Amino acid sequence: MGLLQKLTKPFIDIFVLVWDFNLLLLNFVLPSYKPGHLVPEGQAGHGGKWPEYIPPKEGDSRSACPMINAMANHGILPHDGKNISFKELNTKLRQTFNFAPSFCFFVPKFSADFLDRSYWGGRFDLAELSKHNAIEHDGSLTRQDVAIVPDQAKPDLELVDQLLKEATGTMPDGSPLLTKRDLSLALSKRRYAARKSNPAYTESFFHNMFGSSNSSTMLTIFGGRVNDLTPMLTEERFPDNWEPRILGRFGLTMAAFNATVIPVERGVDVKKIEASHAATEAK
Ligand code: HEM
Ligand SMILES: *[C@@H]1O[C@H](CO)[C@@H](O)[C@H](O)[C@H]1NC(C)=O
Ligand SMILES: *[C@@H]1O[C@H](CO)[C@@H](O)[C@H](O)[C@H]1NC(C)=O
Ligand SMILES: *[C@@H]1O[C@H](CO)[C@@H](O)[C@H](O)[C@H]1NC(C)=O
Repeated sequence: MGLLQKLTKPFIDIFVLVWDFNLLLLNFVLPSYKPGHLVPEGQAGHGGKWPEYIPPKEGDSRSACPMINAMANHGILPHDGKNISFKELNTKLRQTFNFAPSFCFFVPKFSADFLDRSYWGGRFDLAELSKHNAIEHDGSLTRQDVAIVPDQAKPDLELVDQLLKEATGTMPDGSPLLTKRDLSLALSKRRYAARKSNPAYTESFFHNMFGSSNSSTMLTIFGGRVNDLTPMLTEERFPDNWEPRILGRFGLTMAAFNATVIPVERGVDVKKIEASHAATEAK
């Protein structure tokens, strides 16, 4: 980070927190959108119609983030995933997923900072977002650790399958639903397995929070619906007729998101997984 960025960062962080909290309050006061009415006319996803899905081609840049990759696969971000401005990422995130403007500013700004670029004028390729131990970390649910599989651009279909098949909830129509407990258990198992299989494994409170935060979007923006998460996590494709499940006027604030993330992270219990493995091995 440059000196100017270092000096301004605390002020920007406080500004974003206050802004976010105000949006949280506005969301309480203002009526939410009705299902099916979130995405305005003329915008990608209006009426459940997403732009055409084209899988990445040789040479296209992709990241460790399934949802950002999906935006590029549908041409919401440039299909080649290159030369994207941080400001464009902010706008597109907001329009596509209904994250609050505070959130949509915060994450691209955070990314610009770790890439040592200016948020205001800087550009990046999607692959650059996968910088190890910036946001990308060990023990993820959709990617093997980078020390084992260096290419973080593609999902690990076996891991995704393990995650989704453990959903214990059900939707009113009987389709499977991923719950907070399912996600905590999946994270516990992944962290246990990653510790065992990756000699270079690292973990920190900070990265654990990122991990549960990134995966908690499956419960909020996707409402835990496995039928929607399947194309998103395996092909990085928007399901037909999909819309964000967060319908608040100002979208998902960081403060509201915390109400999902904190219980998910608190429910992670790697020791319990370890003990149950030890017990089966002893038999
Ligand atoms: C500027 C915006 C974003 C950036 C820079 C970003 C970056 C990342 C990165 C680097 C990872 C890999 C983390 C890991 O090692 O597990 C990741 C994972 C993930 N992100 Fe994002 N992301 C962004 C926005 C989003 C949005 C809008 C969603 C959902 C709507 C989302 C959902 C996820 C999910 C579900 C994972 C997978 C977690 C896992 O494999 O355990 N991200 N993101
Ligand atoms: C990236 O985009 C900017 C703005 O459109 C353009 O001026 C620049 O030449 C592009 N760079 C590359 C390498 O394509
Ligand atoms: C993913 O983790 C990063 C780590 O800083 C965090 O800034 C970001 O808010 C998370 N993204 C989502 C959509 O949860
Ligand atoms: C969310 O929780 C984290 C960890 O407790 C805290 O640092 C952060 O300030 C909270 N964010 C908001 C917007 O409340």
